[in-house]
Amino acid sequence: MKKDILTLLDLTKEDFLYLFQRAAELKKRHKNGIVDRPLIGKSLGLIFEKPSTRTRLSFEAAMIQLGGSPIFISAKDTQIVRNEPVRDTARVLSRYIDAVAIRTFSQDLLTGFADFSDIPVINALTDLYHPCQVLSDLLTVIEYKGEYQNQKIAWVGDGNNVAHSWINAASVIGFDLRLACPKGYEPKQEVLDRAISNCCGTILVTNDPHEAVRDADVIYTDVWASMGQEREQKMREEVFGPFQVNTDLIRGAHPDAIVMHCLPAHRGEEISEQVLEGPQSVVWDQAENKMHMHKAILEALILGNKKEK
Ligand code: CP
Ligand code: NVA
Repeated sequence: MKKDILTLLDLTKEDFLYLFQRAAELKKRHKNGIVDRPLIGKSLGLIFEKPSTRTRLSFEAAMIQLGGSPIFISAKDTQIVRNEPVRDTARVLSRYIDAVAIRTFSQDLLTGFADFSDIPVINALTDLYHPCQVLSDLLTVIEYKGEYQNQKIAWVGDGNNVAHSWINAASVIGFDLRLACPKGYEPKQEVLDRAISNCCGTILVTNDPHEAVRDADVIYTDVWASMGQEREQKMREEVFGPFQVNTDLIRGAHPDAIVMHCLPAHRGEEISEQVLEGPQSVVWDQAENKMHMHKAILEALILGNKKEK
């Protein structure tokens, strides 16, 4: 297992399969009251420059359940805000803690941190990717559908960080991914090009949500304006209207299709109240699975081989 998860392209198909299996196993053991403490004495730093409910808390709970300690570091309370170079912070933290999860704006900052870090670095969301989200989402798909290989997964909405990680996942492990985004809000071309060049699944980008959702097994959406794009909210509301996941749209999908959302959800915008709270929605199980997947990730990265420089 490679030591950093900066994007899903850092993982092999074998890594994905290992994490799915181990997360499911840890989940089952936890539900049966079995206590696993492989990370006693280890600590995880969490440096967050953007808000978070699920990712922060599920990493913290994961670390505690495995016997280790999370240390939350609000970036604004560190010397980072006074322009201490990222490479200095990375080298110092490597002397104190055993892994670090970072939520920030710039993917380059994350990569710069990882270049100078001796400890595993985990992307807890950047403007470009949200890899751990999609790992746990695939665990949810496997739970509900028994497998991921033959699933038709429809992304409806912004071609954003979560969409980019879905594209990377499709390229590494192979499934049928269709993304419906408004014109001008498609995924970044370089992300698509890289994925399509080593793609073992199929990736389709369309501007028609009905086309993406047709016969889909999984329908996935996310906010129209991501963190950092708040000023575009009004403008985006005008463009994204036809991309709302509502009962009319999901009628075109497979009757057993599940509806997913990474949360937080804006009811009445990207998803209707009726669908979010309806029988096809799996969003609460999906949120829970972040914790089980994060346990598998932390165990694998912290107990894995020493990072090669
Ligand atoms: N899904 C997700 O990353 O949620 P948070 O922003 O609450 O961490
Ligand atoms: N695309 C969203 C995901 C939140 C979990 C954002 O970046 O705000």
